[in-house]
Amino acid sequence: MIVMPGPSSVKLGEKVASIIGCPTINIEYKNFPDGESYQRITARVQGEDVALIHTTYPQQDKRLIELLLLIDNLKNLGASRVRVVVPYMAYARQDSRFREGEAVSIMTLFKLIEAAGADEFYTIDIHKEATLQAFRIKAKNLFATEVIADYLKKIDLKDPYILSPDKGAIMIAKRVGDELGTEYGNFEKTRDRITGAITVKGEKVDAAGRDVVICDDLISTGGTIANAAKILKDGGARKVLAVCSHPLLVAGAAERMRSAGVDEVLGTDTVESEIGRISVAPLLAKGIL
Ligand code: R5P
Repeated sequence: MIVMPGPSSVKLGEKVASIIGCPTINIEYKNFPDGESYQRITARVQGEDVALIHTTYPQQDKRLIELLLLIDNLKNLGASRVRVVVPYMAYARQDSRFREGEAVSIMTLFKLIEAAGADEFYTIDIHKEATLQAFRIKAKNLFATEVIADYLKKIDLKDPYILSPDKGAIMIAKRVGDELGTEYGNFEKTRDRITGAITVKGEKVDAAGRDVVICDDLISTGGTIANAAKILKDGGARKVLAVCSHPLLVAGAAERMRSAGVDEVLGTDTVESEIGRISVAPLLAKGIL
């Protein structure tokens, strides 16, 4: 197998290749003056089994076009198998028609990835794992909880409680909780589908004097984490840590969480960020083979 790190996952792709012990393919890429993406695969890929690793954040729309161009280009150049590895899959939260007339964006993207020629698809902590059933090709979700739990084991936590800020991420909290052998649970979150405003309720969790680790699939505005953190700090939590698989961290997110009482924010390197201290490279190296 050969690893091809796409323009958005150069560091991660190289790490994965070095763990697997396989070569990488270089590509040339640039933007035309009007912003369109140019790419050229410089290595011979005829008959090769290629793992293309390309995340889709930041600049989701551009990254997705690059991904489709890369898949189709690899197939046209004769790659025998293209394993498409998207560490963070954008648009995955729009997985239903929540309001009449809405696009079910993730389904459109899956169709395009398959039509471009993907032979296999891998991602990490996709918002709803069941959406992958829409693929006709092999499609697999990998769980970053394994590497997250390994990292948390090395931190000194007092009477830890693992919390999901909503029902959606309860499996993440359960996996981390089970790995650490600690209690876990979830808050209840509702989001106004028009304004996007979030309400979080969590009276049942006894946080007094404990270190609470809030686990979520992603952090975007930080609003979900901030709302949960306020409740925990009001309930007497000693420390509040926030951990996510995908640290999107839009402008203002870090400050929003800090002022709500979050003591530390951790993330993986599915997307590049200042807090991506937990690498998913070992997980990918194992999971895509
Ligand atoms: C939604 O259900 C997700 O799991 C995250 O909780 C959410 O998208 C985080 O977004 P934000 O950081 O903007 O609250």
